[in-house]
Amino acid sequence: MKNKKTIYPVAIIIILVSGLLAWQAVAKQNNHDQVLSQHGISKVTVYKSPTCGCCVEHSKYLDKQGFEVEVVKESNMPAIKSKYNIPREMESCHTAIFGDYFVEGHVPIEAIDKLLTEKPDIDGIALPDMPAGSPGMPGVKTEPFIIYALSNGGISEFMTL
Ligand code: CU
Ligand code: CU
Repeated sequence: MKNKKTIYPVAIIIILVSGLLAWQAVAKQNNHDQVLSQHGISKVTVYKSPTCGCCVEHSKYLDKQGFEVEVVKESNMPAIKSKYNIPREMESCHTAIFGDYFVEGHVPIEAIDKLLTEKPDIDGIALPDMPAGSPGMPGVKTEPFIIYALSNGGISEFMTL
């Protein structure tokens, strides 16, 4: 009988925590849906090398977020990086074009939403390399993702996730 006393508080805590998590997920989704309908950009073009696989995974991620994604296999990726003026140290595998902005690499949706909502006077944003646990990449996140704002080849911090 001694167990019965502890089961109720534990059950209540589990219910509260799962309710909170569900509520957070819904709030996040609403915010993103709002961004999607506000900025009017639904079509995204992703440039990737023909052989890379993680780019496809990030494209699927963008598709799940409600964007219509066109994947373009580009054998000359350095040409894309120089066309959009993306510095070498900011490079990742693929480059996605959202209207007037580029999004370089495995950038999480929160940063893309911020970009499309605030519409800063920059060229695009980048998450350099391919950090483990970022959208489209396998593994577990081990460090904060620093997303950079790029403007005329200049680099500043945009967001940390
Ligand atoms: Cu990648
Ligand atoms: Cu890739």
